Amino acid sequence: MDQSRFEELQGKVMGDVGGALGLLMAYIGDQAGVYRALDEQGPSTHTALAESTGLDERYLREWLSANAALGYVDYDAGSDSFSLSPEQAAIFSHEGEPTCMQGFFQSVVGQMATHETALEVFRTGRGRPWGEHHACCFCGTDRFFRPGYVANLVSSWIPALDGVQEKLEAGARVADIGCGRGSSSILMAQQYPASAIHGFDFHEPSIHAAKQEAESKNLGNVEFRVSSAKEFPGADYDLICIFDALHDMGDPVGAARHIRDSLRPGGTFMLVEPMAGDSLAENLNLLSGIYYSFSTTVCVPTSKAQEVGLGLGAQAGEARLTQILQEAGFTHVRRATETPTNMVLEARA
Ligand SMILES: C[S@@+](CC[C@H](N)C(=O)[O-])C[C@H]1O[C@@H](n2cnc3c(N)ncnc32)[C@H](O)[C@@H]1O
Repeated sequence: MDQSRFEELQGKVMGDVGGALGLLMAYIGDQAGVYRALDEQGPSTHTALAESTGLDERYLREWLSANAALGYVDYDAGSDSFSLSPEQAAIFSHEGEPTCMQGFFQSVVGQMATHETALEVFRTGRGRPWGEHHACCFCGTDRFFRPGYVANLVSSWIPALDGVQEKLEAGARVADIGCGRGSSSILMAQQYPASAIHGFDFHEPSIHAAKQEAESKNLGNVEFRVSSAKEFPGADYDLICIFDALHDMGDPVGAARHIRDSLRPGGTFMLVEPMAGDSLAENLNLLSGIYYSFSTTVCVPTSKAQEVGLGLGAQAGEARLTQILQEAGFTHVRRATETPTNMVLEARA
């Protein structure tokens, strides 16, 4: 054994242990409103924070100490007070901004919360339906993905597609398949009032949440319906999108084929998938490690619980995705654009 390589790995894994517990601390602070309170009131002793939040003083002291030691909050020993720097506030407190990582943390906590099921699924090889996950999985996924859609969907992804923005502005029919809690559909409905957006997902609680969100925003041009990707109703769509969901489907080829059949001639399929290289050797990095981990407990089991059960995984890569789209009958496939975490493929029949 090489001692220095061992120590390097040990140091990294210790960091991961700190991170795992730190995420739990961050989740607790988020749900209990501590980061928000600290952000609003500025440097505070733990007693002042206990007073404003109504939380137990002793627990708060320990939680703040953990956060200070992990670098999640700042500590001033002279005044015995805690505060959030602008950078810490951006990550832990500023809900809705692309910098806020609480949705990410919530998704991880959701996986940890059902670790026994994850182990049983892994041992037996059975599929695990999307609906069998902890509620944090649905809320966390939406909360984590939404800021990325706000930052990119309207400003760069749709303009990168050939002629689609003009159609949406003039009034087009759009379907969002595997729409989850509907954030991407709602964004398009808000941006393109002349277009009709139809969100479909086979998970009833997510569709219920999407409907409530659309109602609260008084949007008349978006509707949500429970439907699977191979059976969603309607034809003559100008644009059909899938955001971070094709790889979760049991039969991605069947879903893409139904999409192709539901498009108007000249229509476009926009496929947003996690960024990945085409082989494991190209994916040996932190982001892929995170994607492969979620894929082990969420994406592959969700797919295996469905018809065909292809188990594509969250790191399929452009070549494999293109092959699936071609098998489904799309003849023109190209990478329209990308972000550090997503690739956006444009497919036409
Ligand atoms: C990772 S989530 C993404 C949700 C949403 N598109 C977003 O970006 O927030 C995957 C979604 O795919 C849905 N899904 C998986 N397989 C499906 C299928 N065969 N038909 C319809 N929806 C499906 C799940 O219910 C889940 O809402």
